[in-house]
Amino acid sequence: MGFTGGFTYKGKRYPKLPFEILKAYDNDAKCVVTYRRNIGDHIEEYDLSKVDPEKMPYADVVIGGFPCQDFSSCGPKRGLSSKRGKLYQALIVYMKHHKPKVVVETPGQGAFALGCTHIDERALQRFRSFAGRRMRAFGNEHLAYGDPRGSRELRAAIADHLLSTRGLRCDPDQIMLTSGTQHALRIVLGAILRPGDQIWCEDPGYPAARSAIGHCGLRPVSVPVDVSGMIVAKGRALAPSAGAAYVTPSHQFPLGMPMSHARREALLAWAARRNAMIIEDDYDSEFRFGGRPLETLQSLELGRRNGAGRVIYVGSFSKSLVPALRLGFLIAPPPLQAPLRAACHLGGWCGQWPVQGALATMIDRGLLGRHVRKMRRIYAERHDRILHALTADFSGWLVPQRSVTGLHITATFLSGSLAFERDLTERALASGLHVERLSTYYATRRRKAGLVLGYGAIPTAQIASGLALLRDCFVRIQ
Ligand SMILES: Cc1ncc(COP(=O)(O)O)c(C=O)c1O
Repeated sequence: MGFTGGFTYKGKRYPKLPFEILKAYDNDAKCVVTYRRNIGDHIEEYDLSKVDPEKMPYADVVIGGFPCQDFSSCGPKRGLSSKRGKLYQALIVYMKHHKPKVVVETPGQGAFALGCTHIDERALQRFRSFAGRRMRAFGNEHLAYGDPRGSRELRAAIADHLLSTRGLRCDPDQIMLTSGTQHALRIVLGAILRPGDQIWCEDPGYPAARSAIGHCGLRPVSVPVDVSGMIVAKGRALAPSAGAAYVTPSHQFPLGMPMSHARREALLAWAARRNAMIIEDDYDSEFRFGGRPLETLQSLELGRRNGAGRVIYVGSFSKSLVPALRLGFLIAPPPLQAPLRAACHLGGWCGQWPVQGALATMIDRGLLGRHVRKMRRIYAERHDRILHALTADFSGWLVPQRSVTGLHITATFLSGSLAFERDLTERALASGLHVERLSTYYATRRRKAGLVLGYGAIPTAQIASGLALLRDCFVRIQ
């Protein structure tokens, strides 16, 4: 059986393999890494945990080896078996030594990986069934170009959904569907700014947004954040005439705190004075499980007497459903409706009629709302378990950041250096744990070392064993 799915190499996603792979093992019984010396030539198999990875012949392609999410059933301690742990360590040594052209990750993610959600079979089943029905109804009336902003039905459903879940009031005509946040940013940045313009970005912040900003020929300005979010006064000092600010006010990425009311007011005041725009990325705010509900920046501006419509709201279904859908949206304030609609027409046209229709049905029937409430309970429990364990069992190493939202938790090191952070995350990866390095989210030298742990995908019952493995990594490294 061939495996021809996509793969990730050095952080870049390739949708299709340039060749067919005949075997991809990733199970505890065999622990085999398959590699191909010359593409199309032949396949040899080695068990890297048995041979010296440095003495292995060079391979263009290495398959397998990355930890599955469901690692708890693999070993005697309900963690990774030592054999499998050895394999992952050997694979890392191999990769460092030989630098193969392509490394294919076998399906699945390490425990604590970011960017994954809990897969709820029931919700998925419903989505499949609605999408199937929509596909079967895909008739003549759907074959023309349609609206560049995407399906009116879904836009209307989103407007209702946002009013009930976020208290955000908007007209479906203001909503433009996108294939996710990145796409929304591309549309917005291209439409409202000119090449060379400066744009404030949180530091630490979301690297993908920063990259999109750079790719559009704009100049990101790193503005530090503190416990209240982006320090607006620093932004004013660093780049007073920037054309826009990109912020995550509901749940600062990656540190996790919301932006304080005073900072929100200061940001809006700066934008009004300078005629600047604010891009509000509200990526996972549905999952707020503590404290009072937070208003969006767009609503706050709408409530101001002289609110001129400077906030562009960006939302995504990557967290509330699954990232693979590639569905998101932006809400244009009235003054920007025309240029943003034109930008959609030029390069942002988002079709996928059956998928958009299926999502509209999910929302209209209250199924998305129900799914989000169920996931919120699951994520809240995972968050509490991790926070409790970090406070109780890692207090000599880590300081967890306060946060009551989302699918990840961030902790800074009490005293660890950047080298310690790197060694620790490499060892963790070898043990089947995919934890991110906090320092990599900083764009400046003020970076702090620490860890970012996702809990979207890790089954709740596996959190304790995953954290026990992480603790083990600390003990061995220090
Ligand atoms: C800060 C932030 N914004 C947005 C997103 C969602 O991006 P997209 O809609 O492109 O999947 C993520 C996903 O991890 C994120 O971390």
